[in-house]
Amino acid sequence: MTQDELKALVGQAALHYVVPGEIVGVGTGSTVNKFIEALASMKDQIRGAVSSSEASTHRLKALGIPVFDCNDVAELSVYIDGADEIDGHGHMVKGGGAALTREKIVAAQSRQFVCIADESKLVKTLGAFPLPVEVIPMATARVMRQFAAMGGVAQIRQKDGQPLVTDNGQHIVDVTGLQITDPLAFETQVSQWPGVVTVGVFAHQKAHVCLLGTASGVQTLAF
Ligand code: 5RP
Repeated sequence: MTQDELKALVGQAALHYVVPGEIVGVGTGSTVNKFIEALASMKDQIRGAVSSSEASTHRLKALGIPVFDCNDVAELSVYIDGADEIDGHGHMVKGGGAALTREKIVAAQSRQFVCIADESKLVKTLGAFPLPVEVIPMATARVMRQFAAMGGVAQIRQKDGQPLVTDNGQHIVDVTGLQITDPLAFETQVSQWPGVVTVGVFAHQKAHVCLLGTASGVQTLAF
């Protein structure tokens, strides 16, 4: 199976976690796009969605799925999103699609995080994928120096030759050279640096379940 087919497989499998009559939390990325396509088949059974990005909002609305403001919804039963890396404890690196801040907000508001990913995303230790960090532009150089002091190399993410601007009007730095052996402590530490909006380690908001697309089908990992 191709990676695209594996993504479609887990996107379809995630429908099983959507609670009829409720609002579902929807993440961002190419795997989630497959989930959104699948969700259209049960759009009459749900009230709608809370979305983690302008891109997903656009897709949901185009399929006739109502999108609610996060502030108007107290708690979601489930949040479904992809990951750039996931370890054997459900800790993840996210933000390859630059939506990490809203993703963490919606995840925090959800009782269950269901991660959908193809098997290439499963790792022993987080850090091989460049770690996305959303930063207030004024603090970018300072935050990059702090990562350098940890042995990391940070680069400002570019789009069309300019620093990429997130849905929240901020920039992203991508950090290579890190081995994140204690994701919970790492997330706690970096989140406190002035100017950091969101670090792409999801340990406090880790996955409860991962639907992993493999050559032999969907494997369910529970954490
Ligand atoms: C977006 C994300 C995505 O979940 C992550 O980048 C995985 O994306 P894809 O499903 O396209 O591989 O965190 O900010």
